[in-house]
Amino acid sequence: MTTGKLDGRVAIVTGSGGGLGAECARVLAGHGARVAVADINADAAERVAGEIVQAGGQAMAVRVDVSLEDDVSAMAATVIDRFGRIDILHNNAAALDVQQRQRDRDICNLDMAAFDRAIAVNLRGAVLCSKHCIPDMLTRSRGSVIFATSGLGVQGDLSLTGYAASKAALIMLPRVIAAQYGKQGIRANAVQIGLAPAENAHGSMPAELLDILRDNHMTPELGTPRQIADVVAFLASDESSFVTGTTLVADGGFGCHTPSLVAMRSFFQKAGKTGM
Ligand SMILES: NC(=O)c1ccc[n+]([C@@H]2O[C@H](COP(=O)([O-])OP(=O)(O)OC[C@H]3O[C@@H](n4cnc5c(N)ncnc54)[C@H](O)[C@@H]3O)[C@@H](O)[C@H]2O)c1
Repeated sequence: MTTGKLDGRVAIVTGSGGGLGAECARVLAGHGARVAVADINADAAERVAGEIVQAGGQAMAVRVDVSLEDDVSAMAATVIDRFGRIDILHNNAAALDVQQRQRDRDICNLDMAAFDRAIAVNLRGAVLCSKHCIPDMLTRSRGSVIFATSGLGVQGDLSLTGYAASKAALIMLPRVIAAQYGKQGIRANAVQIGLAPAENAHGSMPAELLDILRDNHMTPELGTPRQIADVVAFLASDESSFVTGTTLVADGGFGCHTPSLVAMRSFFQKAGKTGM
């Protein structure tokens, strides 16, 4: 469902050339926001912005590497120049390509270049975008800053050391921003996301792995990009005007259960007990 709840607002969604970011851009535009589709992949950003415009929304594409301060400052200036203001910043961009994930391993086998890239894009990028967008929000005493974080930011796992460390830091950043600028009308929150793969991402994960992850979500199915985008739209809008400095968990119950639950469920099923 779309509403006019973001009419007149201008949103930047980083990493919105594909995946969850693209869906967030579409949904925010559907609620009436003018959206800057910002991505390191210029063609992808152009494609998503073009689709939004074709669907009757307002969007522009911006090519940005969020880890570079000059790029980020130019992105903010371009958006203000074209759309006049920035009301919403969704820090969604993350280095998640296959090569990066293969090198960002357990500590003893960690490729430090991959660790540095995870921190540079996921964490430094979010800091830089906040640094260069919040000043414009302050001129109107209103703004919403959102961070995409993950269960891996709060729970240990076998790999993705740099990714996990960066996502843990993204749980702290909204608290910092809420404390520093809350009295001046700026809200900041994180969304802790469970597995909500875009359609094209399902193929990159083995079915067996998806089954394990599905078993650990307490919803019948894994999440969808739309379910995450709806939470982002809530945090972007005045519907969440009393929500700041916190993490909204949208993870299908991935982080809510005892570590032994899945094994116990299987144990009881094997023992012929149904209904669990
Ligand atoms: N999809 C999920 O199930 C899931 C789960 C937990 C958290 N998340 C988080 O949600 C966000 C989106 O995830 P996704 O699955 O859509 O990822 P994705 O890899 O599909 O999309 C990431 C986007 O970021 C862009 N990007 C990469 N480096 C960049 C840079 N330096 N500057 C600008 N853009 C850059 C990529 O080009 C890409 O378009 C990420 O922050 C991720 O950590 C996703």
